[in-house]
Amino acid sequence: MPSAVGEVWSVNGPVVIATGLRSTPVGNQVSVGDIGLVGEVVGVRGDKTIIQVYEDTTGITPGDAVVDRGFPISVELGPGLMGNIFDGIQRPLEVIREKSGIFVENGVQADPLDRSRFWEFVPKVSEGDELEEGQIIGEVQETSFVVHRVLLPVGLRGRVIWVAGQGKYRITDVVLKLETSEGKTVGVSMLQRWPVRKKRPVRRRLKPTIPLITGQRVIDFLFPVALGGVSAIPGGFGTGKTITQHQLAKWASADIVIYIGCGERGNEITQVLEEFPHLHDPRSGKPLIERTIIIANTSNMPVAAREASVYTGITIAEYFRDQGYNVALMADSTSRWAEALREIAGRLEMMPAEEGYPAYLASRLGEFYERAGYVEALSGNNGSITVIGAVSPPGGDFSEPVTMHTKRFVRTFWALDKKLAGQRHFPSINWMESYSGYVEDLAKWWDEQVKGLSWSQMRTRISSILQEADRLEKVAQLIGVDALPDAQRLVIETARLIRTGFLQQNAYSEVDSFCTPEKATKIIEVILEFYDRASSLLAMGIHILTILEMEVFSRIMRLKEEIPNDRLEKFDEFMEEMREAFSQLEARYGSGF
Ligand SMILES: Nc1ncnc2c1ncn2[C@@H]1O[C@H](COP(=O)(O)OP(=O)(O)OP(=O)(O)O)[C@@H](O)[C@H]1O
Ligand SMILES: [Mg+2]
Repeated sequence: MPSAVGEVWSVNGPVVIATGLRSTPVGNQVSVGDIGLVGEVVGVRGDKTIIQVYEDTTGITPGDAVVDRGFPISVELGPGLMGNIFDGIQRPLEVIREKSGIFVENGVQADPLDRSRFWEFVPKVSEGDELEEGQIIGEVQETSFVVHRVLLPVGLRGRVIWVAGQGKYRITDVVLKLETSEGKTVGVSMLQRWPVRKKRPVRRRLKPTIPLITGQRVIDFLFPVALGGVSAIPGGFGTGKTITQHQLAKWASADIVIYIGCGERGNEITQVLEEFPHLHDPRSGKPLIERTIIIANTSNMPVAAREASVYTGITIAEYFRDQGYNVALMADSTSRWAEALREIAGRLEMMPAEEGYPAYLASRLGEFYERAGYVEALSGNNGSITVIGAVSPPGGDFSEPVTMHTKRFVRTFWALDKKLAGQRHFPSINWMESYSGYVEDLAKWWDEQVKGLSWSQMRTRISSILQEADRLEKVAQLIGVDALPDAQRLVIETARLIRTGFLQQNAYSEVDSFCTPEKATKIIEVILEFYDRASSLLAMGIHILTILEMEVFSRIMRLKEEIPNDRLEKFDEFMEEMREAFSQLEARYGSGF
């Protein structure tokens, strides 16, 4: 079918209006001008077609050709995704750099996935098998981390009439021939496409009951997110959004990590690229870059491609979910993405709603977060996408539209706090303002995983000590801490232990950057034991200062740094020492005071 060809009528930044494309529907990809800039039809008004262009439109003038590509904006799915870095419209940055130098030039064409590379394909179906859409037809060991499960494209079903033997194939080689129920023969390769704005179908959605372990104590213990859950990290300038996202990308218990650097500074992505090849997964010991895909659309790159980058990322996430993997997707920052929406809406002369954002801001955010979830995929495997979006409210004001709308769609909220960040309390997650809606669903997992202790009970006790201390500190500011009864001072001091010895976690510390749930539980056990023993000493009439002078008190704050994840027996030794110290105090003061 010959492609429709129209011409440019006007250019306004990333928005181009064309004529002569009456038959081209909204959503279709077009190529604009001689150099073939990538664009997408976003609206039709009479005989005018409105196009959003994903590259710099400088040099495009009225009369330039616009060609309908005949398909919607899509991503390529197949072996070669892992460990790769793409821009917002899935152009591989390495290849583009090689072609155009350090600055990405306009109109540079590059296949998202390498056509020339051979992959060892292992068939998983045989001749005569009846296949359903989305079923696994073969496997490729894509990296040391990931076995790529090649899926039959959605919408295709039939009987296998030929399947390639185990061997090396390129992604465009036919590896399977299928006879459909209409009697048509279809060749299937390892490469498929999917339109980014459309969610990939699943068999059914499941209730999330397993936590995404992030290795960050304040998250895992107090404000957990489930595999397949949705979480937001809102925080003002410099409060630690990016470092938190990086920590999650490094240590989260996901099979695959998709990191979308969306409108943030280029050096933050560079940091990821420099760091990741040297980092190894604490569980498997394998290089983390081999399970990571990076979508980079930094502040100096075209604004429309930023809008597309989150869809590119989440579509790739769905593809790996459908293979049966747990995918964690980070987007830093969804506010920059919303600003891209706003800028484009302005150029489209849409009626602005709150703070100039288009009225569809909320529904777009909703559509994005909705693609998270724990599911039974068409392949029959269970998989998940956990979405973690950073939000950068101007001035750290959480009542602005992006944060407010985001709150409607996420169940976990990690509120970063300027004051805590100012005190160098990191992660600066405020324990009074943050919340998690997954606590009940995850309790069973914790109770099975960490034997003998109830996580929910410990969590409730820790939260109530923190909250009580917060209230008491306000009172103490008025009347002075010395005026408080000892039992209340103990609450304040225990909260200090929790903050310093547990909640604070230095991303740059070799020992403490990642903390297992078992180690986190051990620290909590020690702190609660301290609190209980100290409370009974106070009840015996011993002065709070005597307790605070105990050597074990200050040591509790350092346990996180002193005891690595694989030396947990040291906690039992410490616990013994602490109990002994308390017994001695009891013996000394118990009889007379
Ligand atoms: N977990 C952490 N451990 C140690 N330091 C941290 C941690 N989190 C944040 N920081 C410190 O805070 C600084 C700012 O963090 P980050 O760049 O992540 O903030 P941000 O919220 O992304 O800022 P911006 O608004 O500029 O994007 C870091 O350079 C680091 O010094
Ligand atoms: Mg940042």
